[in-house]
Amino acid sequence: MLRPWQISLGERIDAGREAPMYMQIVHALIRDIETGRLPSGTFLPSSRDLAAALGVNRKTVVLAYEDLIAQGWLSTEGTRGTVVSRALPKSPTPAPSAAMPALLDDEPQYRFTPPPARPLALPGGAGIKLDEGAPDGRLFPADQLARAYRAAVQRASRGNRLQYRDPRGTERLREQIAEMLRSQRGLPFTCDNICITRGSQNGLFLALQVLIRPGDAVIVEELTYEPAVAAIRALGGVVIPVGLDEEGIDVAEMVAACRRHAVRAVFLTPHHQFPTTVALRPERRLQVLDVARQFGVAIIEDDYDHEFHFQSQPLLPMAGYAPGQVIYLGSMSKLLLPALRIGYLAAPEPVIAAIAHRVSLTDGMGNTVTEETCADLIESGEVRRHARKAWRVYAERRSAFAALLEEELAGAAQFTLPDGGLAFWVRFAGDLDAIEERARAAGLRFASHRSFMSRESAQKGLRLGFASLDASEARRAIATLAAAVHG
Ligand SMILES: Cc1ncc(COP(=O)(O)O)c(C=O)c1O
Repeated sequence: MLRPWQISLGERIDAGREAPMYMQIVHALIRDIETGRLPSGTFLPSSRDLAAALGVNRKTVVLAYEDLIAQGWLSTEGTRGTVVSRALPKSPTPAPSAAMPALLDDEPQYRFTPPPARPLALPGGAGIKLDEGAPDGRLFPADQLARAYRAAVQRASRGNRLQYRDPRGTERLREQIAEMLRSQRGLPFTCDNICITRGSQNGLFLALQVLIRPGDAVIVEELTYEPAVAAIRALGGVVIPVGLDEEGIDVAEMVAACRRHAVRAVFLTPHHQFPTTVALRPERRLQVLDVARQFGVAIIEDDYDHEFHFQSQPLLPMAGYAPGQVIYLGSMSKLLLPALRIGYLAAPEPVIAAIAHRVSLTDGMGNTVTEETCADLIESGEVRRHARKAWRVYAERRSAFAALLEEELAGAAQFTLPDGGLAFWVRFAGDLDAIEERARAAGLRFASHRSFMSRESAQKGLRLGFASLDASEARRAIATLAAAVHG
């Protein structure tokens, strides 16, 4: 005997869909059992009857029933037929409708923390992208990367190194990073002071996890990197914005903040301040260190694009003169490719042990294959060669970009040639909200000036990356921006 629920089942089976028919029947029946429309103990029609009602081959229904019996949703009761398993709870909460939900259309029936209203990443899509200082991924040859991956997988597999392993990352890469930090950046670290991370953003989140508890305060500059602010907040931290001038963070304000709040850390980008690009002056560095020592505050030194400095020698990181006070973050994202997701965190060993524990809790360990690939690329000298080539290309793009800004925005915008990093900080004479609106309407994708401001009184400006655009792309992007400015 056919039962009324079959009718709605029939509506949900469609030969035109991608999923096989038997799978559609399985899902529809599970849905009906879950929603209480088919209570435990209900007899199902024979496979012949259901097949006829649905207009499908009987074998399809038999297959579906067998699957559901194997999964425990249905059971057979000898000659009496197939029944919704009597072991299932008697009365699941009936749902208002048994209609198959559109894929992923269900409102979650549980509490979760939604993302902030404005996404952190630039939205994808068409239009001209002016990023905040990304590298040009096209400069690193895909063939070379593919070869390196292939060799790394083969070697790691032969050495049985593709197993679960040290959450701090591949020892070889940690050795190489430590050596590079010692020889090129004056940092006194060994392999045991290094944890490989999934980019510096991951390093930042891991560092914050071991530094703060809900309610603890973290100082950021009034112009700063929004994902850092978001990470602090996501962990229940209180963000304390502090003023910024041409020399860097306002130390007197920092002291006042430390007196007023339970400050555990200060987030800084001393080499190339994000977003303004200027380096934190040596005297300020020492003053910040003094304050940090006095109040037991950790300095999170985000050295996200150390390699690209165009004027003089790069300043050595703060971690070099105060390794016990600093958690140092670096990344291969700008040097090679963001998609590799290889960064590193350097700190005293007990902190690395705490960070490693956090890695175990989240992704268990890093990506061995990519870490091995990076180690090979460093060892073979290809990273150094690429760095030299990229440096030349970016130095040229930096000059060309400056010329374009002069040409297109003369009188309407102000900037200085950045000593380092892959972006310009540009300030505008007009109303920046209106300029942004017009630029977006013209198809330009870029980060809003508001994303850099941790408080309303901060300077307004745009951070315009020059490295990822070739000459014609840069010309188009700046011309579009200029039209919005003059608009
Ligand atoms: C200041 C700053 N920190 C961190 C990052 C994150 O880089 P990644 O996680 O790719 O290393 C960026 C990326 O642009 C950045 O600008």
